[in-house]
Amino acid sequence: MQIASPDDLHLHVRDGEMLKAVLPHTARIFRRAIIMPNLVPPVSTLQMAKEYKKRILAAIPQGTEFDPLMTLYLTHQTTPEDIKQAAADGTVTAVKWYPAGATTNSGAGVKETELEKVLPTLKAMEEVGMPLLCHGESTDPTVDVFDREATWVRNVLAPLVDLLPNLKIVMEHITTKEGVEFVQNARKGVCGTLTVQHLLLNRNALFSYGGAGGLRPHHYCLPVLKREEHRKALVAAATSGSSKFFAGTDSAPHTVDKKECSCGCAGCFTAPAALELYAQLFEAEGKLENLEGFVSHHGADFYGLPRNSTSVKLEKATWTIPAAVEVAGSSPVVPFMAGEEISWRATR
Ligand code: NCD
Ligand code: DOR
Ligand code: ZN
Ligand code: ZN
Repeated sequence: MQIASPDDLHLHVRDGEMLKAVLPHTARIFRRAIIMPNLVPPVSTLQMAKEYKKRILAAIPQGTEFDPLMTLYLTHQTTPEDIKQAAADGTVTAVKWYPAGATTNSGAGVKETELEKVLPTLKAMEEVGMPLLCHGESTDPTVDVFDREATWVRNVLAPLVDLLPNLKIVMEHITTKEGVEFVQNARKGVCGTLTVQHLLLNRNALFSYGGAGGLRPHHYCLPVLKREEHRKALVAAATSGSSKFFAGTDSAPHTVDKKECSCGCAGCFTAPAALELYAQLFEAEGKLENLEGFVSHHGADFYGLPRNSTSVKLEKATWTIPAAVEVAGSSPVVPFMAGEEISWRATR
């Protein structure tokens, strides 16, 4: 089948040699991607976003059409003036909010208890129509890791949606039925992204896979995988055809030495087979007719971008996800479901 070229509305491509190694895997199929700003130091100014965009453009394989859509990392230094400038310039598509301490390189973020301190900045975003993209997890250390998302939805997202009634908000990588239900019932302008791994796996996959027991570092990401009842709610949302939900892979490469160690990094590198894995899920659910909306239409519509005029071909064909992707000067990155056969193949 042929569908409009998809967009990845949540992607980590890192920088330097890692950027060069991973970007082609997304650009092979996806026409645009929302690029996460959690570098060290974070991409927190318009100038930094412009420079990072140049480095990304330089890493796109010759002859491949791919547009990186840049984001700014929300810090205590982000002013309403910065937002107005960014909106007028056009380089920046959205602002990313990492509650300080929630995940990889979130240390410069704004704590959820300090949100009122950046309220003028959020109001400026509301005025200019700049979306706020949220890593939605409570960072209260007394909250159990499996409850952090639902706690954040209740204590942070719900009040925020009412406080700024015209702010466009994306709840990124929804992992719970509470997140799905909130977004489904929320006002216009509140949407959510869903990753490959949270749609395909439940938390059992952290400790066993394909019949074999043992710790699975390549299934560890944040928010952490949840119970099967939550996965089912995510699958229902993704495949429902609702324009509130769209694809955002959160493909988050870390080198193998940083994943397979005593304190492993969070992130699944899903880019090498992301569209194919979404397709496999939609097929298994008997909902292939809703795949194009989820991967190619709903995100563009939310961001006010034209839907892609190019297309990709999806065919039934068996291939094997590579065991590793080499990165110059460091250990390789192991893709999600490395070495496994999948049944769809996409080509531009
Ligand atoms: C680590 C952190 O922020 O301390 N991330 C995390 O706990 N998920 C950094 C990292 O592991 O990359
Ligand atoms: O698993 C994750 N990895 N979750 C995030 O929120 C960040 C990401 C990363 O940058 O590695
Ligand atoms: Zn996140
Ligand atoms: Zn992410």
